[in-house]
Amino acid sequence: MKGIILAGGSGTRLYPITKGISKQLMPIYDKPMIYYPLSTLISAGVREILVITTPEDADAFRRLLGTGSDWGVMIDYAVQPKPEGLAQAFIIGEDFIGGDSVALVLGDNIFEGAGLTEILGEIRDVEGGAIFAYEVSDPQRYGVVAFDEHGTATSIEEKPAEPKSPYAVVGLYFYDNDVVDIAKTISPSERGELEITSVNEEYLRRGALRVHRLHRGDVWLDTGTIDSMSEASAYVEVIQKRTGTVIGSPEVAAYREGLISSAELASLGKAALKSGYGQYLIEAARD
Ligand code: G1P
Repeated sequence: MKGIILAGGSGTRLYPITKGISKQLMPIYDKPMIYYPLSTLISAGVREILVITTPEDADAFRRLLGTGSDWGVMIDYAVQPKPEGLAQAFIIGEDFIGGDSVALVLGDNIFEGAGLTEILGEIRDVEGGAIFAYEVSDPQRYGVVAFDEHGTATSIEEKPAEPKSPYAVVGLYFYDNDVVDIAKTISPSERGELEITSVNEEYLRRGALRVHRLHRGDVWLDTGTIDSMSEASAYVEVIQKRTGTVIGSPEVAAYREGLISSAELASLGKAALKSGYGQYLIEAARD
């Protein structure tokens, strides 16, 4: 399975901070935002990753992530010239995806929790589409999904004024190879974007949209606004200091997936010792 991280967008909800730098390069506590979704993909078993950025920010992402060799994965790059929607990622990534299935993760979404890790372990291949539902108090801000007791989606709507369920669709999606053709057939929404919800509607129409419910103990944070970004930073800081383990580390995810050895993890840690991040890697290499 291939993986795509969509890290485009103009980040206007974070102006003026994002006037000079991409949102997904901003820090969430002690590491750049994109490290978190990158770790999620590595934990999901993805080894080939396409990072889609704005043309202006492409060089900065290359400097930060390189070829992925530090983490035993391959990272490619592509650009999205304008913020024309999440589903455009599958059109931009068509050659990269080839004949494979694909996972898409949004560059500003943070996931954490044992339940999620377990589900990710199961979705190593997918037929149709698989999405994740998370119970929230403000579902109208998101894609909203309703589903039956078997986890088959029964309705999906983008930012509905009157949500049919309390379940938001999180920014992590798994699809079979049909997604490329589906993305080419959908029309832009009123906000001028190819919506991921339109892709999901098509899978739902086919009866092929599976919904995995994330549990309360799992954490999903989207970091698109100043408040949510600062709350996410506080969350990561508290958990890391309290438990001594690190959240959103591609190095540790790669180590757990057997992509790098403990000696390699420790040596990556030594390179980042001064910031404190390296200490977490060295601790993880001892486990
Ligand atoms: C996008 C999707 C929405 C999803 C959300 C998750 O919203 O359109 O369905 O629930 O990401 O973060 P946007 O960030 O474009 O408002």
